[in-house]
Amino acid sequence: MPDPSSTLGPTPDAMVEAAALEHERVVVTRGRRSGRTVVVAVHSTALGPALGGCRVRPYAGWRAGVADALRLSQAMTWKAALAGLARGGGKAVVVLPPGAAAPAGADREALMLDVGDAVADLRGAYWTGPDVGTGPADMDVVGRRTDHVFCRTSAAGGSGDSGPATADGTVAAVRALAAHLFGTDDVAGLRIGVLGLGSVGGRLVRTLAAAGADLVVADADPGRRVLAGEVGARWVAPDLLPVTDLDLLVPAAVGGLLTPELAGRLRCAGVVGPANNQLAGEEVATTLHRRGVVWAPDYVVSAGGIVRAVARELDAQPESVAAERVAGIGTTLAAVLRDAAAADVPPHQAALTRARAIVAGAGAGAGAGAGAGSAVAG
Ligand code: PHE
Repeated sequence: MPDPSSTLGPTPDAMVEAAALEHERVVVTRGRRSGRTVVVAVHSTALGPALGGCRVRPYAGWRAGVADALRLSQAMTWKAALAGLARGGGKAVVVLPPGAAAPAGADREALMLDVGDAVADLRGAYWTGPDVGTGPADMDVVGRRTDHVFCRTSAAGGSGDSGPATADGTVAAVRALAAHLFGTDDVAGLRIGVLGLGSVGGRLVRTLAAAGADLVVADADPGRRVLAGEVGARWVAPDLLPVTDLDLLVPAAVGGLLTPELAGRLRCAGVVGPANNQLAGEEVATTLHRRGVVWAPDYVVSAGGIVRAVARELDAQPESVAAERVAGIGTTLAAVLRDAAAADVPPHQAALTRARAIVAGAGAGAGAGAGAGSAVAG
């Protein structure tokens, strides 16, 4: 018997293969100006047009970029559904070569125009926004090719940086997890470790410090140690932070932190952070649950950016209403944690059950007009 696998070509990453079955559409294209691979993954438009940021970063190769886009876009579907938005999940990824510096000047402009064309080609099925490696100024450039873009600069009529709202939503989630674990949402005196002091982590640390938390922080960039000093936080090496004795661990850097190996070594009661795709594998949620570590699903915690962008740009709500909706992330997480505790399952499982039910319910006559932010321009 010939080996049947030899007819199938190289074995793709098992996770990609499983995840790809769920996606409505995956476009892999070469930007005509930049020559870069641009991937757009539309996971679901069941609730409305897919929404998700555009990530620009180095990858081992275009397949790794596709894998990331598939995982991130799926998480966006759960994120939007659980946040109560009439939106689906998608993501754009621009694949830079390993070790490449962030493109600047005319190269960057060419790249973002290529992203704009890729978004425009989807004719409203996917709306982009900022993500790791992009910001409002990039969205202005995307906006020269398509209207399907969130978080342009305020000068260009957008709602600007999504980082502060993501941080504020995370604070609401931290408080909800504290209430669940310790019976009070007061974080004063809680030992909280924040990994990653970028725009979201930085604001988070300032807010938690002001609320009296006992902070331990880390960042791969030693230049950010200054912030630790400013807020009176203890600074440790990034690889030490997750294994430090903590009440709560807050991952606020790039994904994949929670490997099976690290899951066995965490020394905290709960994990609640805005980094996307924290689980290196689905089984890690179960490992953490067995060890009694409560993992707040990242796709619930990190919804502040999209909640505010939709409230401001599609629903034309004032900043105060957007902030109330962002604070609602705490209520959503509390409900997920209650479901999970009642059924003795990982919060990830409880959240997915809820999210899948919301998405499945969309087919039942909800139509295009359901809920807030369903209007599609263009
Ligand atoms: N980076 C954001 C997220 O992962 C994506 C985003 C923010 C998209 C704001 C649109 C508007 O949720």
